[in-house]
Amino acid sequence: MKDQDNHNKLTTASGKPYAENEDSKSVGARGPLLLEDFILHEKMAHFNRERIPERVVHAKGSAAFGTFTVTHDITKYTKAKIFSEVGKKTDMLLRFSTVGGEKGSADTERDPRGFAMKYYTEDGNWDLVGNNTPVFFVKDPKKFGDFIHTQKRDPYTNMKSPTMMWDFWSLNPESLHQVTILMSDRGTPHGYRHMHGFSSHTFSFINSNNERFYVKFHFLTKQGIKNFTDAEAGAMKSQDPDFAQRDLLDNIDAGNFPRWDMKIQVMPEAESRTYHINPFDLTKVWPHGDYPLIDVGVIELNRNPDNYFQDVEQAAFAPAHVVDGIGFSPDKMLQGRILSYPDAQRYRLGANYEQIPVNRCPYFTNNYQRDGQMRIDGNGGKMPNYFPNSFDNIAVDESYKEPSQELESNVSGWYDRNAAGENDHYTQPGNLFRLMVPEQQQNLISNVVGAMSGIDGPKREEIINRQLCHWFRADPRLGMGIAQGLGVQIDPSMLR
Ligand code: HEM
Repeated sequence: MKDQDNHNKLTTASGKPYAENEDSKSVGARGPLLLEDFILHEKMAHFNRERIPERVVHAKGSAAFGTFTVTHDITKYTKAKIFSEVGKKTDMLLRFSTVGGEKGSADTERDPRGFAMKYYTEDGNWDLVGNNTPVFFVKDPKKFGDFIHTQKRDPYTNMKSPTMMWDFWSLNPESLHQVTILMSDRGTPHGYRHMHGFSSHTFSFINSNNERFYVKFHFLTKQGIKNFTDAEAGAMKSQDPDFAQRDLLDNIDAGNFPRWDMKIQVMPEAESRTYHINPFDLTKVWPHGDYPLIDVGVIELNRNPDNYFQDVEQAAFAPAHVVDGIGFSPDKMLQGRILSYPDAQRYRLGANYEQIPVNRCPYFTNNYQRDGQMRIDGNGGKMPNYFPNSFDNIAVDESYKEPSQELESNVSGWYDRNAAGENDHYTQPGNLFRLMVPEQQQNLISNVVGAMSGIDGPKREEIINRQLCHWFRADPRLGMGIAQGLGVQIDPSMLR
């Protein structure tokens, strides 16, 4: 058959076998090229369009496919089908990333790490887009863009700027908890296999009686925590900038499949109104003494993507993608992210990005969205493109309705937001420091000193002093260690 004959032949994108692929058509051996060499145009034009915008954050990343297996029954908290029975397995994709660097940046930068999961469930794809830290730098999405600007390049020098970073952090003390984690040993994990993951946000669980619980997800590495020291991470940037990519790829290729235990913290809805910490404040954790970890299941990554661009660069994770039995919470950051990700992906990948195989729901999708660039799924064929209609039998299913949420009814917003306790940015980072063994405390201090030493310019002293106040308020020993490291004289009587 003719088409089979063509299987081993080099062809144009439209299927015409090439007669020549290296020499352009020219006027004689030494003459100029001919406009009619369509193959030359096709090759050059496609090459010019190979790059798509990198992710505006988390641009450098690595991913693998795997399986989630339920090991414990949590059906009293959620009716989500993924958790319906012990032993149930669901296919998933996990993408790890650094945050601030570009697509070509080094894997061992001091930075939080992304921990983005896509679970292909029967009720649609569930994306849980977390980090390797349980908290975040800011607690209102309005601050996100400003914050990220400080992590990227300075508009004038085109270089990263410790001055911008510490200026922003010192003016936003709610960042202190996350900055403490970032400056600790956990700011430079030894690749992606040796770190935990967290939803960070609070989500809802809804059970079959339509009762709501608030839930935080934890993913504890079964490989054990392992970190680089600051010096090792720095050296690795030049030795092997793709250390984490290589480590993940090689281990999976060798059959050494990394695994994480999924655990949850659960808070009954009624307690969320009285608990002394705002459970929807992304800069705070729920102490495990109050809300212990509950076992759920295990993730195993066991298949490397065949093609990085196809399955990793084009992967689109969105906190908006929850499934029946899992809902949002009033966490303001989560609310902002619900809007932001699909918006970014429509820009990065196009309006029909959900049809790209890695993003497509493997079960079914039915809706009346039609057309748009790169529509490749049949576009609904002859079926009506409006709802309601008298011709098909596609209907909404009210059993998927979420129970209502009891919320405050006044529009609060800007002025009375920071109720009692909300402005305590110091107790939890201080507790974290006091929990560390002396060596970890010392590493934290010296990492902060190293990072703050880069602050320069006319505002240097002002920024250092403002940030030192935050460290002192978290813990006087921490503040004193950093002040001494920076050579700042502190009058001990001021500490009383
Ligand atoms: C990626 C926005 C906070 C984790 C992204 C992207 C955007 C974004 C636009 C790129 C998406 C894409 O092009 O596919 C925001 C906004 C935030 C926020 C507006 C706050 C309001 C957070 C938080 C976490 C997080 C709190 C973790 C708990 C991630 C991860 C990725 C990402 C892991 C990479 C996903 C991937 O692997 O493709 N973020 N983000 N972000 N964000 Fe956020």
